[in-house]
Amino acid sequence: MREREPELAGRTALVTGAGQGIGEAVARLLADQGASVVAVDRAADGIAALEAEYGSDRIAARAVDVTDHAAVDRLVEETERTVGELDILVNVAGVLRPSRVVDLTDEDWDDTFAVNSTGVFRLSRAAARKMTARGAGSIVTVGSNAAGVPRAGMAAYAASKAAATLFTKCLGLELARSGVRCNVVSPGSTDTAMQRQLWSDPEARSRVIDGEPSAYRVGIPLGRLAEPVDVAEAVAFLVSDRARHITMHDLYVDGGATLRV
Ligand SMILES: NC(=O)c1ccc[n+]([C@@H]2O[C@H](COP(=O)([O-])OP(=O)(O)OC[C@H]3O[C@@H](n4cnc5c(N)ncnc54)[C@H](O)[C@@H]3O)[C@@H](O)[C@H]2O)c1
Repeated sequence: MREREPELAGRTALVTGAGQGIGEAVARLLADQGASVVAVDRAADGIAALEAEYGSDRIAARAVDVTDHAAVDRLVEETERTVGELDILVNVAGVLRPSRVVDLTDEDWDDTFAVNSTGVFRLSRAAARKMTARGAGSIVTVGSNAAGVPRAGMAAYAASKAAATLFTKCLGLELARSGVRCNVVSPGSTDTAMQRQLWSDPEARSRVIDGEPSAYRVGIPLGRLAEPVDVAEAVAFLVSDRARHITMHDLYVDGGATLRV
């Protein structure tokens, strides 16, 4: 019996924030499924290690800051020239600067939006210009379940993710007739460096899982944190042809933490 081709064979995918955490898991999974992946991060080390492990024909590292407007446009042009026509964009790069609003600095607000919202806009615009011209493509933005529920100490982050989420859905509407799908994956607490920076004492992890009434958090009904690969699996589904009739969707991967209807 002939072996089936990997699902994403022949596709070119660009993944931001690929140096660690969820972005790294997405880059690995898409490469494992046959895509040629361009792994983008502003920190060079993690993506260089991925390239060394997989080989540059499967994962090519590009050290780019998504807040650098000109560099983002150059990155998409260079990807099309040297790797292949862009079929898939996954916006994962993100920052979290926890602070209550009364203590939040202008700089933290601006940096949060520059990466989490404007970075998503710039990369998606550059990719959309290529994809619409060809009449095919898939964009996934990794948002957050914090975009849909108020959280103390996370106003800038939650607002920036809400902006990225609605931006991605509006883009999906604009691009639908040209055959380009745009979706959002909204993770809950996921075991990465970003999550661990919030843990101030040894009980912090179990408070995330069991809930914390004083912070108005209900916990995670499935009783565990997500692993980065749990989020990557949702992304891999949405970019695949199995999701060909799905666009403008927001897929929550949070173990039920936001008790959504
Ligand atoms: N970990 C969680 O609990 C959680 C929950 C919900 C949503 N998310 C979202 O998932 C995404 C990934 O989170 P993570 O937990 O893996 O975070 P992480 O901090 O472990 O990794 C983020 C990566 O993005 C890169 N990055 C940051 N700013 C960048 C920029 N300007 N240009 C290029 N790269 C940049 C970082 O260098 C890093 O490699 C983020 O968008 C985050 O908001 C995470």
